[in-house]
Amino acid sequence: MTILGIESSCDECAVAVVADGRRLIGQVVATQIEYHRPYSGVVPEIASRKHTEWIESVYRGCLDESGIDQKDLDGIAVSCRPGLVGSLLVGVSFAKALAYALDLPLIGVDHIIAHLYAPHLEHHIEYPFLGVLLSGGHTLIARVGGYDDVEVVGATIDDAVGEAFDKVAGYFELGYPGGVEIDKHARRGDARAYRFPAPRLHKGDHPFDLSYSGLKTAVVNQREQFRDSAYEATIENICASFEKAAIDMLVSRVLKAAEHFGLNTVVAGGGVAANTYFREALTQHTGLQVVLPSLALCTDNGAMVAALGYEYLSRGLTSGLDLDVSARTPGYRRTYP
Ligand code: KG4
Ligand code: ZN
Repeated sequence: MTILGIESSCDECAVAVVADGRRLIGQVVATQIEYHRPYSGVVPEIASRKHTEWIESVYRGCLDESGIDQKDLDGIAVSCRPGLVGSLLVGVSFAKALAYALDLPLIGVDHIIAHLYAPHLEHHIEYPFLGVLLSGGHTLIARVGGYDDVEVVGATIDDAVGEAFDKVAGYFELGYPGGVEIDKHARRGDARAYRFPAPRLHKGDHPFDLSYSGLKTAVVNQREQFRDSAYEATIENICASFEKAAIDMLVSRVLKAAEHFGLNTVVAGGGVAANTYFREALTQHTGLQVVLPSLALCTDNGAMVAALGYEYLSRGLTSGLDLDVSARTPGYRRTYP
């Protein structure tokens, strides 16, 4: 079964063709980074306009690269939530038009579930596992029991981890996307220079929750309070210390959750899963099988959407042409009354 996957939830305009949910036949990922760079963040209106301009040629380019004809497709999968509504609408409307014109089934998928599914394209992974999704919009830890059986057991109560990286990088004018720049600077810094505090969460029923807004404020506004006087206040040291605090908090929650739920396999996804220190820190823990997708599968792509779409379609689960988009999926960000 050959599925086309369309991803337009944020600033990547991406289309891929995947056979039988596992074999990537071809893909194109057109990134809008240079259009958002002047604003140090994704501008929703620019994002949806670029998707509108690009989606047809990204689709044609993907078919060319795949060496297949559109008549060979068996289904059209598309991210329909969560994300920027205007951007999602472009991908979903294009997917609907294709499904209608080619008389193919349409499969709307959740972008986060697709991220957690992406590693299956490169690894054989048994369920259940602990899924860790780290992106610019989401930070969550989930017990994953099947392709769409995702129970969120920990989530950020404020900023997403990628958002914190981007905001800190934005403050120091390091460039965009900020996570990548912090990663580069941190490699040349000493993480012992600043001891940023870990958040004190009122844990209650949610011992695996996370918080990043306090850390971000400490780095931006109060960092001198936390500096070890033996170290210089260089940008490299700030980045290394911030990165360590952000990732250590996360890794400690992941280890606790893995132990609590008796899960030996940890599968990571999302753009921040590309972070060098995160990859090192998580793989250090013997006893845990850690699955980290390649960098191209960590960030937004159409392959994860097509692969997940196969799971639904092979069970006869499809969407109607009234498929709608949604900015959020309930439960992905912890909200307190
Ligand atoms: O999953 P993703 O491509 O897009 C969504 O947000 O859905 O994630 C983008 C995020 C951005 O915040 C970016 O700064 C961060 O991933 N990122 C990184 C690294 N590469 C990308 N953060 C830390 N270290 C990296 N190497
Ligand atoms: Zn994403």
